[in-house]
This record gives sequence, C-alpha cells and structure tokens, in this order.
Amino acid sequence: MNPQAATLTVAEPYLIQQDWAAYTPGQHSVWAELVHRRMPQLREHACREYLDGFEQIGLREDTIPNLAEVNKRLRPRTGWNATPVSGFLPPDAFFEMLAARQFPTTTWLRSRDSLEYTPEPDIFHDVFGHVPMHAHPVFADFLQHYGKVCARLTDKDKLERMGRLFWFTVEFGVIRQDGQIKLYGSGLVSSHGESTKLIEGIQSGHGPEIRDFNLDRVLDQQFLVSEMQKVLYAVESFDQIYEAAQQAEERLA
Ligand SMILES: [Fe+2]
Repeated sequence: MNPQAATLTVAEPYLIQQDWAAYTPGQHSVWAELVHRRMPQLREHACREYLDGFEQIGLREDTIPNLAEVNKRLRPRTGWNATPVSGFLPPDAFFEMLAARQFPTTTWLRSRDSLEYTPEPDIFHDVFGHVPMHAHPVFADFLQHYGKVCARLTDKDKLERMGRLFWFTVEFGVIRQDGQIKLYGSGLVSSHGESTKLIEGIQSGHGPEIRDFNLDRVLDQQFLVSEMQKVLYAVESFDQIYEAAQQAEERLA
C-alpha cells in the first residue's frame, strides 16, 4: 500500500490490493484489443497532455497495468496514486480519496463481449481513461482541489452542481489545441463510440454543441448519464479548470 493511503478513514473499507498475477492471458488480450482499438484515434484526437501522460506513467498496450508500477512513475511527478478499490464509492469516500491524491481505481476488466460498454467503471475506464491526465501538474492540482471542495460540502444541491463540473471536465472534457477540439475526459478517451460520434459530429456539423467553458453555465448544465452528450464545454488550457475549482469553492462555500 502507498504511504498516503494510511491517512484515509472513510474510504479505508473500500481499499483492496490488486492481484496482478491473477489476470489471465485472455484478460491481457482483452486489454490489448481495447488499447489497439482506441490508440489510432487518440493519437490524432486526444490532447497532448493525455498522450504524454500515457507514456510518462508507462502504460503498455499489451498488458493490464500493474498499479504498483504505474504509481512508481506517477507519484514522483504529481503525488497522485491510482489506488485499488472494490467498486463504486459513496461520495464522502470518493472525495476523501481525491483530496488525498488517491484516485479510486477498479481492478476488474470488462469481458470480450462487452468491449464498448460497461455499466460500472472498470480498470480500462479508470486507468486508460483517467490516470494519464494525473501526470499533468495543473490537472493534478485541479483534481485534488475539486476533491477538497466537495469533501467539505454537505448541501445536496451544491454537490449536484459540483458533480456537473466533474462531468464536463474529468469525464467529458475537451480542449482547444492546434486549432482543433481535442479530448481529455475519460468518458471520451475510454469510449470508442462516444469519441467517434463526437469527432464525426464535429466534422459533419451535426455533433454536440461545443461551448466555451464557463463555470456558471457548467454548474447549471444538467446531463443524462445514459445518453450521448448534446453539449460539451471546451477549455483553452487546464489553468481554466484549476481556476474554476477555486471559484466554485468561493461561490458554494
Ligand atoms: Fe470516470
């Protein structure tokens, strides 16, 4: 276990060990298939911070990540860890972990017959989708601050509004880079279907509406988890979401 995990209290019952040796060759080959399906599109359409992070934390295309190895590379960069958990966490445990730079990470992997969709996050969504961005210092600071702000909130309405900030950044965030819309949200990075519809939609002019990121609009923007996104918010740089977390703290305190 990593040293900071010792400080977790609410999340402690959900912490597990990843039994990396127990993954079968078949499971590693599902990982490889998922990665090979995503990388050609991501090399062109993911933001450069995601692609840099993928290399920096040593993700491999052919084997399921060993979280201890990932953390050996990630922790010295930003202090973040991908910390194995048993499944969905209640909000207070989730925010406690983010505030401690521990990203709750599932260890199970979807099967070959559900490559595109899983009802709950798996290690592909969590590690392939989320963790590369945690190697970026500004994104890393943003995510911890987000967790700290939410950990102090008790009002349901305020938490719902903060949930929208998470959704339109961490899960479905896009950024303008090199004159194009590039992906950084895990729900896009890890989903071939969502990304392809977005990219084709941008090219055809019939995709989701892409608005400039604006904190107030994001906090008011309702969404449905089960549907393709109709609106996305594009940032110009990750400084913008870091500042948004600071502003949200002032507004919702
Ligand atoms: Fe996610």
